[in-house]
Amino acid sequence: MPHTSHKKRRQRQEPLPRNKRGEIESEDGWTRIARSDKAFSINRRHPEADTGGMISSPNDPDYDQDLDEGYTQMTFTPTPAETPAGASLEKALSHYQKSDSAWKQSNTWAELKQTFDTRISTEHLNITNCICFGLSSPTGLTGAGFDRRDISMYQLAAFKSIIDLLSSQQAQPPAAFAQEPQFNTLDHQLLAHLDIQAVHHPAAFHLITAQSFTFCPGAEHREWVPNDLPGAERAELMERIRRDAVRGAGIFHRFKKGKQSFRLPDFGHEYALYNVYLFWRSSSAEGEEEGEEV
Ligand SMILES: C[S@@+](CC[C@H](N)C(=O)[O-])C[C@H]1O[C@@H](n2cnc3c(N)ncnc32)[C@H](O)[C@@H]1O
Repeated sequence: MPHTSHKKRRQRQEPLPRNKRGEIESEDGWTRIARSDKAFSINRRHPEADTGGMISSPNDPDYDQDLDEGYTQMTFTPTPAETPAGASLEKALSHYQKSDSAWKQSNTWAELKQTFDTRISTEHLNITNCICFGLSSPTGLTGAGFDRRDISMYQLAAFKSIIDLLSSQQAQPPAAFAQEPQFNTLDHQLLAHLDIQAVHHPAAFHLITAQSFTFCPGAEHREWVPNDLPGAERAELMERIRRDAVRGAGIFHRFKKGKQSFRLPDFGHEYALYNVYLFWRSSSAEGEEEGEEV
């Protein structure tokens, strides 16, 4: 959706042909969420990840590339997480209950709830759906030696707590969805038990509307540059990464307009939620100054 209100818009440039409108080929396949009209969202682990650690400003010609048409592309083959021997829905629910209990005792949850009660609910956002991206597998093993089940369970508990909070505050409870290529059959069962519908890429991207709450826990953007890449290819890849990072900063700059934000205190368990920001659309939010650096 074009942003015609952008006061200092430079002449729109043609999308770069090589990278298909900014496709990001990260190692774990994170693509992009190019919609800036979400009601609010939690994202972000490292602010510097928006720019790949590079300084970017609206003076950069790539900054103002408008990628807001919701383009997404999976850049790897989805592989469900391995279900460990002896795993069951009963055990998964027990694990979930423990994670939920730790989450509900945390200062992170207390501050989140307080922010909802005093700042977000006053905006009457009427959230119709809650969408979680990239939870990883709460019940399975996601790669050689990788056991991120605790992290995923805490993040699932946080997501579910927000769904429940919205349900208690709104006339209509929101629908809930989760998209993660690594979900296995047990994950689907666990999510269904919590009234969260697992969907396959790219369905969740198309569910996002102005009344959506989106949650992307631990969604930092990583790029993989092979050590043995020849010089010219390396330079080309680095330049593409730079352009993607700069345009990502531009998207984030537009996303923040008209929204308020709050940084939650870190949730210490397994670093499942740290440097997490809440963003929400607010009638009293001031637009950012044009020319401000992100
Ligand atoms: C950086 S990991 C974060 C995993 C977990 N939330 C954590 O904090 O450890 C990003 C996750 O995004 C998932 N992912 C990649 N492409 C996705 C897509 N198109 N839709 C949803 N999830 C995706 C990956 O499978 C991976 O589990």
